[in-house]
Amino acid sequence: MSRSDFAPISATLREQLFDHYRARGRAGRASDMRLWRLTIETNSGLVERRFGPVLDRYLQASGRSTAEGLDVVDLGCGFGSIAVYLAYRGATVLAIDPDRGLQEVGAAAAARHGLPAIFMQGRMEESPAISMNYDLAVLNNSSCFVMDPILRRRAMAETFRVLRPGGHLVSTNPNRSCPVDPFTGWPMIHWLPARHATAAARLLGRPRSAVRLLSGRAARHELEGAGFIDIEAWAPARGLLGRAMRPIARYQHLLARRPPAASLGTIAWSDEHPTSHGQSTPRDPSLSRERA
Ligand SMILES: C[S@@+](CC[C@H](N)C(=O)[O-])C[C@H]1O[C@@H](n2cnc3c(N)ncnc32)[C@H](O)[C@@H]1O
Repeated sequence: MSRSDFAPISATLREQLFDHYRARGRAGRASDMRLWRLTIETNSGLVERRFGPVLDRYLQASGRSTAEGLDVVDLGCGFGSIAVYLAYRGATVLAIDPDRGLQEVGAAAAARHGLPAIFMQGRMEESPAISMNYDLAVLNNSSCFVMDPILRRRAMAETFRVLRPGGHLVSTNPNRSCPVDPFTGWPMIHWLPARHATAAARLLGRPRSAVRLLSGRAARHELEGAGFIDIEAWAPARGLLGRAMRPIARYQHLLARRPPAASLGTIAWSDEHPTSHGQSTPRDPSLSRERA
């Protein structure tokens, strides 16, 4: 399947997203309309551009030439557009999000195009994924919404747990080290404590999600704490400038790996890995590689 074949799928995502917003009566004020049009395009026409380079970087790092046959868990999938894209590229995907209403968009697109993406309501800190055999866990713009440090540690431990030994994590989240707040575009507002940043943005008339942003160093430390190895910060922007700007770019792109089975003995299991018991469980029975 060539990549341009994604066009009809992205058209379905666009249609479903319009229906989603229409059903919620969000097409009112001009500023709202601008926002939802942007969200719609981000989750339809721009999905390939947004996630293609991340997937390609993972394929390169894992020595694979294709996503065909991969088992992927998408933690915090939102509308599910990335899950649908991964399924289109040949992966079997379990997509998890607490907001069932958002997931309906991706579920409808997957059903219409016969793509193997299953959507489940749940949280990354208590992942409903019973399989521990995923090749890849995706945390795209989602772990920043887990603000409580204990829940955040649990989320990382759960991500580690559901991966097979040697499996990878790819994470893209807003970067605390960027001088400009990735949400409002204002300088330094995100360096305030999260609660104050949200309150200040509201006062200044630009509502902002409540998020916890990490510097590159803190993000690396968080992954190391969960047991990940081979942690790499990378930049999708090509060239010298892209690489030079990476530490202060708006988004942090991280790639990491669960150690292969032979080196698992080096990990000290603790209360911070409440569900990491190192045993294998059956694969999710609902997931099948067969396309409908
Ligand atoms: C900005 S959206 C990103 C959606 C998607 N990953 C993407 O990049 O298009 C953030 C998502 O994180 C989800 N989220 C928030 N807290 C979560 C949690 N504890 N576990 C899993 N997902 C969560 C939200 O419901 C929301 O859908």
